[in-house]
Amino acid sequence: MTEQQLLDLFHQMTLEEKIGQLVQLDGGCFGTDAMAVGPREKLGVTEETVRNCGSVLNVLGAEKVHEIQDHFLAENRLKIPLLFMADVIYGYQTVFPIPLGLGSTWNPKLIREDYKLIAEEACSDGDMVTFSPPADLIRDARWGRCLEMPGEDPVLISHFSKAMVEGFQNTWEKGKSVASCLKHFAGYGAPEAGREYNTVDMSKRRFLQDFLPGYKSAVDAGCELVMTSFNTVDEIPATANKWLMDDILRKEWGFNGVIITDYAAISELKAHGVAADDAEAAKLAINATVDIDMKTSCYANNLADLVARHEIDEAQIDAACYRILTLKNKLGLFEDPYYGCSVEKRDSVICSPEKISAARKTANRSMVLLKNDDILPLKRNKQKIALIGPYADSLDIVGMWAVHADHKHSITIKQAMENVLDNEYFTFTKGCDFLDDYSSLGEFGFIPTIANGKFTPEQSVIEHENALTLAKEADVVVLAMGEHMLQSGESGSRTDITLPEPQKQLLHEIKALGKKIVLVLFNGRPLALTDIIEDCDAVLEAWFPGTAGGLSICDCLFGDYNPSGRLTVSFPYHVGQEPLYYSQFATGRPANGSTHSGRFVSRYLDCPNEALFPFGYGLSYHKAEYSNLTLSQTKISKSADDSIQVSITVTNTSGTSGTETVQLYLRDLVGSVVRPILELKDFKQIYLGAHETQKVTFTITEEMLRFYTKDYTYQSEPGNFKVFVGPNSAELLEADFSLTI
Ligand code: GLC
Repeated sequence: MTEQQLLDLFHQMTLEEKIGQLVQLDGGCFGTDAMAVGPREKLGVTEETVRNCGSVLNVLGAEKVHEIQDHFLAENRLKIPLLFMADVIYGYQTVFPIPLGLGSTWNPKLIREDYKLIAEEACSDGDMVTFSPPADLIRDARWGRCLEMPGEDPVLISHFSKAMVEGFQNTWEKGKSVASCLKHFAGYGAPEAGREYNTVDMSKRRFLQDFLPGYKSAVDAGCELVMTSFNTVDEIPATANKWLMDDILRKEWGFNGVIITDYAAISELKAHGVAADDAEAAKLAINATVDIDMKTSCYANNLADLVARHEIDEAQIDAACYRILTLKNKLGLFEDPYYGCSVEKRDSVICSPEKISAARKTANRSMVLLKNDDILPLKRNKQKIALIGPYADSLDIVGMWAVHADHKHSITIKQAMENVLDNEYFTFTKGCDFLDDYSSLGEFGFIPTIANGKFTPEQSVIEHENALTLAKEADVVVLAMGEHMLQSGESGSRTDITLPEPQKQLLHEIKALGKKIVLVLFNGRPLALTDIIEDCDAVLEAWFPGTAGGLSICDCLFGDYNPSGRLTVSFPYHVGQEPLYYSQFATGRPANGSTHSGRFVSRYLDCPNEALFPFGYGLSYHKAEYSNLTLSQTKISKSADDSIQVSITVTNTSGTSGTETVQLYLRDLVGSVVRPILELKDFKQIYLGAHETQKVTFTITEEMLRFYTKDYTYQSEPGNFKVFVGPNSAELLEADFSLTI
């Protein structure tokens, strides 16, 4: 409808109806009247609130959306449609690799195209808003939601959050776009001790410099919604944080879309200890310009009284309500309350060959070859391969947050290998359980996980003996192992980030047989691999590779795809190093180059400072040499048209073609505040034919040198800098330049 028609509608609304738009309930509240009583009463909302409700959480399925919407519109006085929102984070039914894997492609353009495909699937089945992208910077591997983030660097995460928003919203092409909800604003990825939902506390400068850019990039890309995070920011919970939501997000960044809370976050303000009751919690949130209350009754049951007591202005409710109506109008819901979804549409687009192929292509590029002692690529039908491990034939390869995916679409390694190997060259058994004890995983609602069936003691013995027998008969053992799917993701924090015990034990036993081992890893975080890496002849990091995961793993193992993934997170030697990230400060006593000697420098007595596998690292089947780093000039001024051209020569010294991700880092040697020893500023992917040489160029601009200086102005400071270029953050060529006044 036109803007005027929308205004006219708005002016017909009662206060209760406006407040209703600010409420999001789960699908259970909208069942048939008898069915809905339970969820409604449990939530403490009235039938009137349900009749006036603005949006629904995590209901998908064209049939269900039509049924609920029809029932709702029959009851709603002004026929204002419900907005259906869901967690379609990195895939709907065709699931792509987890974002930690998507980041490892270092290819935002590819991911933008993938997210268009995700949007098409999701909206065909009724999704109008997706709670994605998560853009929380991560630096602590103990946190389970590392799974959902592209990595530990602000520049990299900014590229991906932009690409994901653009992919989802897809220029609003009808039937191929969903409104994107950036989350979790802000700083959720830095909980103390890596413990889920724990306090987040850091300097304002670090918050502005490192943790906000990924979110701002999504806002600048036009995300329609932003979700508040559970955590505190400067000791004020984000959901009640007016400085964060109004001053920064709305006023400084110009965001005028819809702010929605995370699950029950308004009610949780009481647990945080900043609100004595629901009314106070509602008042704090509406004053922070939060528009939608997800899954509590705080807004529904208190806003009208707060207006009546003149504790808040009705204008605040009007503003929130109008932003929600504007979003509904932008999606065309007043003309088509089903957003074009239908069973026929869904069945024609879900898991189409095009989408499975895209998922396979991206999964290929997400996998990171961490080790290869000349054993990969494997030789098809020339080596007898024993495929062993709990992930060998598991459908749970989509990761914990593919909550709406039907795992039956997954293609396992076993299925993929059987298709390419003759029987005489292929054997398989699970060999061991994921875990010794599943109880720690707790309950996770409706996750359709399959792999939490524990072996009986008899099965364990049989599987164990089978594994050793098959290993003895094989030339190469491919171990498909990793974290259980529910050991990462939300509420998946771990203090032990090594491979689970039963799997580690079997790996050591097979090594003791003197067998060549290729380990394929499934995990949602960096793992500490120190205690198994020596036993493995090769390690392929597959993350949770998504629906086509088994196909991609075979593509990489047999060389049909030359692994090109590069880490976007640091893998530690030991969990004790966490939080661990490459862009550290030097400290006054750096471990290398300090004027102090021996013990009195910044180090551990029992562990290196560095990562076992550093940011940007990954191997390929080709070999690349970097040489001849040159600068067009060694000085740059602050004038906008000045820049330095950086070039480097990259030579493929092998007979295998492949992709190189050339990375450019900078270091500001002296600042008004301390500056990181290394900061990623740009990266380029090139494809090198056998024995091919290419020259790669970058441009250094003054803008790249800006940071939050001592007085919090965002600017560059004259002085000396180093530029580094190479294949990862630990193998770099360097050169000097300076910024003049
Ligand atoms: C969860 C998550 C958030 C998700 C929301 C709705 O608790 O924190 O990422 O979008 O609730 O399911």
